Amino acid sequence: MDARLTFIHDHAGFHPDRAALPAANPVVKLSGFTRRFGENTIIDGLDLEIAEGEFVALLGRSGSGKTTLLRTLAGLDPSDGQAIQIPRSRAVVFQDARLLPWKKVWRNVALGLKGLSGRVRAKAEKALGEVGLDHRLDAWPLTLSGGEAQRVALARALVREPKLLLLDEPFAALDALTRIKMHDLVLALWAAHRPAVLMVTHDVDEAIALADRILVLDQGRIVAQERVDAPRGERHDTARSLRPRLLSLLGGGHGGNPGDASVILFPAAHEARG
Ligand SMILES: Nc1ncnc2c1ncn2[C@@H]1O[C@H](COP(=O)(O)OP(=O)(O)OP(=O)(O)O)[C@@H](O)[C@H]1O
Ligand SMILES: [Mg+2]
Repeated sequence: MDARLTFIHDHAGFHPDRAALPAANPVVKLSGFTRRFGENTIIDGLDLEIAEGEFVALLGRSGSGKTTLLRTLAGLDPSDGQAIQIPRSRAVVFQDARLLPWKKVWRNVALGLKGLSGRVRAKAEKALGEVGLDHRLDAWPLTLSGGEAQRVALARALVREPKLLLLDEPFAALDALTRIKMHDLVLALWAAHRPAVLMVTHDVDEAIALADRILVLDQGRIVAQERVDAPRGERHDTARSLRPRLLSLLGGGHGGNPGDASVILFPAAHEARG
């Protein structure tokens, strides 16, 4: 643990040994999790807990291992004998909707659901209704806009009522207005279904707008976290102070990359701003 990290944790009020807050009812628990590709250690002794129904955003520079971590939590990658706690019911939405083009929209949503076909279709229809697409049940995926395709992907994820919803930059490819609508939609779906969410994003403002807690991944570990307590929709002041600090950690201008000395100074800079 270097001084930079200690500083960050001190600032946030956390002890360095408790990089991720212990959760009351964790649905996810990783302790000292490590993931290597050949010689490269991508995740390096990472601790993480996510509570039931908690909305967590994960930030980190490109190549820092966000998708690698998400794939582990999705159970898509081998855990190499390490003890990881993840719920049985999980769903993932990636940046691209990954719909099967030869199946109609409702069949994409119903994929893998078991039961009588009428019931399965009704379930898919209900889920598509929740994302505002019940009029496109019989459409072909290639006729959907990017935003619509992502809404179908969300419906497909939620139709199984997962305890853990994993989102990997789900709105990165969408225009600004569509993104804002998707934020409202995700919050509405989260409120209705209450899965724990881990959302990877490059967008600091998106993280602040949506999450209960924001984590920053760097060099294979969670190096900073912030709880966002202000009610959603009333986070302008929070964003004003939090945005530059998060951008600093991500190397986004306010002090260069996370290894820079200026980052070590950021608690003082923050305090100086009041
Ligand atoms: N299957 C793999 N085999 C070898 N290396 C891999 C594999 N998957 C990921 N990596 C490497 O692990 C590192 C982290 O990749 P990862 O996709 O998790 O980053 P990321 O934080 O999601 O980046 P981005 O923000 O660009 O999506 C990268 O250096 C990548 O090349
Ligand atoms: Mg990625």
